[in-house]
Amino acid sequence: MRKLTLLMAAAGVALSAFAAQAEPIIIKLSHVTKETGHPKGEAAALFAKRVNEELAGKVEVQVYPNSTLYNDDKALEALLLGDLQMAAPSLSKFEKYTKKYRIYDLPFLFDNIQAVDRFQNSEKGLELLGAMEDRGLRALGYWHNGMKQISANKPLIKPEDAEGLKFRVQTSDVLVANFKTLGANPQKMAFSEVYGALQQGVVDGQENTWSNIYTKKFYEVQDGITESNHGILDYLIVTSSEFWDGLPADIRADLERILAEVSQERNSISAEINQANKQKVIDAGGVVRTLTAEQKAEWRKKLAPVWEEFTGDIGQDMIDAALASN
Ligand code: LMR
Repeated sequence: MRKLTLLMAAAGVALSAFAAQAEPIIIKLSHVTKETGHPKGEAAALFAKRVNEELAGKVEVQVYPNSTLYNDDKALEALLLGDLQMAAPSLSKFEKYTKKYRIYDLPFLFDNIQAVDRFQNSEKGLELLGAMEDRGLRALGYWHNGMKQISANKPLIKPEDAEGLKFRVQTSDVLVANFKTLGANPQKMAFSEVYGALQQGVVDGQENTWSNIYTKKFYEVQDGITESNHGILDYLIVTSSEFWDGLPADIRADLERILAEVSQERNSISAEINQANKQKVIDAGGVVRTLTAEQKAEWRKKLAPVWEEFTGDIGQDMIDAALASN
């Protein structure tokens, strides 16, 4: 009997030692942009830093920036396969999973990133977070990048200047429609391939935010950048419902709290970061062209028919809520 008690005590010690040494939960977070000087790169790095400090020993976030692990399409597949735990693709990359996010690609819908922020925090914007639950993807929140600018291997001042040119677009049918409406030829392409495609003339132009244009050096291989502010590029922080629901409740609550705090902190300075990147483009010798109010109105008018094409997928109520946030 005494032997049995001793054995059980020894097993208990071994078990608690195992519990103390239990491996932390690993969260691999994949994204495609540069880590520093970029709204998403900085947000992801801060999230990892805070989790790794505050939940040390329990959770470890490993960030893979710059498409080093996956491009965005593959990242979403990897989340569903359980090979990846978090990603932050742009809202234009979810075409395969929902049509609701098409709202974010409508041209000239939001006036600025502050309007996007108001919409995302409104009842309708928060409702959109649940759009992919039936596909096993759980949206945890939004991270901002900013307004998109347009560039090509020739000056773009009037909408007709884009006619006949090949433009790289993200994997979104609304973005394809935008460029077709301009009489251009859109080509869906992964972010990591854009610089090479511009350099080699596979495409003539592209659209992106100042932070992406500067950190990926697109300005080096373009005639100039037109400050069109014609659309937005924003991110969804996403995980799989299976992974998230399987986390211990206290850990999940801590992660959600840290994520909310990091998002608020970094989102409030995304516009500032983009302005700094615009200045860096100029300082590096990139050409920046601005549009007069009349010229901008011409682009807006030319692209207006795209809204009608996608209203059915998005819902007029959503579009009205977005407009009300301006
Ligand atoms: C793009 O593909 O142009 C962007 O979605 C990249 C990014 O993550 O900002």
